Amino acid sequence: MALLWLVFMGVLGVFGAEGDQALCRMLGYPEFPLFTKEGDVTIGGVFTIHGKTTEQPLFFTDTPQPLTCSSIDLREFRFAQTMIFAIEEINNSSLLPNISIGYRIYDGCGSTLPCMHASMALMSGQERTVGKSCLGQSAVHAIIGTSESSTTTAMSQSAGAFQIPVISHFATCACLSNKKEFPTFFRTIPSDFYQSRALAKLVKHFGWTWVGAIRSDNDYGNYGMADFIKAAGVEGVCIEYSETILLTSPREQIAKVVSVISRASSKVLVSFMSQLEMEVLLEEVQAQNLTGLQWVGSESWITDTQLASRYSSILSGTLGFAIRKAAVPGLREFLLRVGPSQDANNTLLREFWEVTFGCRWSPPKEQESWQSKCSGTEKLKDINNPFTDTELRISNNVYKAVYAVAQSIHDLLTCGHTGEQDVRICTDRDSIKPGEILSYLRGVNFLMKTGERIYFDENGDPEATYDLVNWQRNEAEEMSFVTVGYYNASLPNHNQFALTGANITWAGDPLKVLIIQKNYGSS
Ligand SMILES: *[C@@H]1O[C@H](CO)[C@@H](O)[C@H](O)[C@H]1NC(C)=O
Ligand SMILES: *[C@@H]1O[C@H](CO)[C@@H](O)[C@H](O)[C@H]1NC(C)=O
Ligand SMILES: *[C@@H]1O[C@H](CO)[C@@H](O)[C@H](O)[C@H]1NC(C)=O
Ligand SMILES: *[C@@H]1O[C@H](CO)[C@@H](O)[C@H](O)[C@H]1NC(C)=O
Ligand SMILES: *[C@@H]1O[C@H](CO)[C@@H](O)[C@H](O)[C@H]1NC(C)=O
Ligand SMILES: *[C@@H]1O[C@H](CO)[C@@H](O)[C@H](O)[C@H]1NC(C)=O
Ligand SMILES: *[C@@H]1O[C@H](CO)[C@@H](O)[C@H](O)[C@H]1NC(C)=O
Repeated sequence: MALLWLVFMGVLGVFGAEGDQALCRMLGYPEFPLFTKEGDVTIGGVFTIHGKTTEQPLFFTDTPQPLTCSSIDLREFRFAQTMIFAIEEINNSSLLPNISIGYRIYDGCGSTLPCMHASMALMSGQERTVGKSCLGQSAVHAIIGTSESSTTTAMSQSAGAFQIPVISHFATCACLSNKKEFPTFFRTIPSDFYQSRALAKLVKHFGWTWVGAIRSDNDYGNYGMADFIKAAGVEGVCIEYSETILLTSPREQIAKVVSVISRASSKVLVSFMSQLEMEVLLEEVQAQNLTGLQWVGSESWITDTQLASRYSSILSGTLGFAIRKAAVPGLREFLLRVGPSQDANNTLLREFWEVTFGCRWSPPKEQESWQSKCSGTEKLKDINNPFTDTELRISNNVYKAVYAVAQSIHDLLTCGHTGEQDVRICTDRDSIKPGEILSYLRGVNFLMKTGERIYFDENGDPEATYDLVNWQRNEAEEMSFVTVGYYNASLPNHNQFALTGANITWAGDPLKVLIIQKNYGSS
């Protein structure tokens, strides 16, 4: 905590003694938002727009250079655009008359340090205060993000100290339900507490009582797998091995894990991993020609189209629980309008265009790869990639999170009830404080246009429902995620998990899985 505080003070700035008024000066590097718009109320956003970080070498003689982030993640870029869409839609609607919502969206790079920089910048609002008097007020009223549990815990801890609500669309660690540690945290994605139980029920249902387990060595994987192993024990399922992988693990380490998998007798493998680590693992699985495994996946990667197309021969037949599919009217049209023409100076929009269309705005250093120049008239609707993918699951969670904040502001301005019985806070639009929005988020309960009811339980968690999806090849030999069942934690225990009766594709030879189960099932 002491270290955290030091980092915070470093970013927030110091009070200079110039003139009579205390001036804010910034220490360290300024953090600039990728997208920003002013409003009466401001919502911050932190997404993993770039998935790779590179640390600069430390010399201990200069201020360390910030991490550089590279490799744009198109799905995360879509999350950011979905947030902008939701805010514009609310701005256009009658939900908040006479109030405009602004936003500030940062890149957290999926890494703790950039996320801390982003959240500090969001809380201190340095762009506004540098060179001016320190207002001592946070710049944003709520923060949407992040996409990983580890970075979300770090961000929520600091935001909690300032009563700023944090709503994650994708952080599922059960640890975040602890309201003593994360008093201002909410999420629109179910806690892994439920997913782990659902996975145990699934494995039991198909008679796989002898399984291997593999996880990311971070909050997401460790907490999720610990809960799964506990729930599996209750269901009478035994774990043959339990291995971990980190994004930064050396190749030999990953090869060792893959050889454990290939030597094991269980052919069913439960993988509680984030999509980035899954990619690293599968690269090695492919190198070692390991096929015929029945993969059971966690929601972080179970609907990842990139993995599905790259590793279709390994992953055909995969099963796992996914966030329910949803349709957000108007979002696709909005996404198809995104491009450099919206803001010629935005380097991220240009980078997005280059990656999407394989063109360049200016010649690269090595001239020979200079093939096509971006014209700006390329058409997004002709493209099929994770940005234009309309099978919305997590994006809908971003959409719902923004609406939950807006609805709370609406309730606040209309003097409605807060989460506490008989407590009302009334305020006017010029003096809305994050802590007031927080009180109303706790009691928010409303129906979305899409028909979904939004509310949070006392832990800040939403209703826990999942689709059971199965990876099947369609006629075009493309992988599709077919819904073959569902899980609803609100139903009585014996009704929570059910199959729809749709055909299921199994990995490899289904008989093999059954034989293994016979040999080891009762051991
Ligand atoms: C909200 O609407 C107002 C007035 O129509 C406009 O000036 C403002 O730019 C809009 N804000 C956003 C975030 O779209
Ligand atoms: C909001 O209204 C403006 C002006 O009418 C329109 O151009 C824009 O597409 C609308 N945005 C959304 C998300 O509905
Ligand atoms: C919006 O502002 C106008 C002019 O300031 C005012 O007459 C009107 O009552 C306001 N509406 C609401 C719902 O506050
Ligand atoms: C995997 O299969 C390919 C082609 O069938 C082969 O060239 C390669 O040596 C195999 N690798 C291993 C590790 O068995
Ligand atoms: C883009 O940047 C240039 C140079 O910094 C500036 O003159 C121009 O006004 C900017 N354009 C927009 C749309 O912000
Ligand atoms: C889950 O079950 C509860 C309780 O029966 C029900 O109210 C809710 O609509 C169900 N959710 C879904 C998505 O089916
Ligand atoms: C399942 O597969 C069988 C055989 O291929 C087919 O006859 C049947 O219609 C399929 N059922 C469903 C629900 O798709």
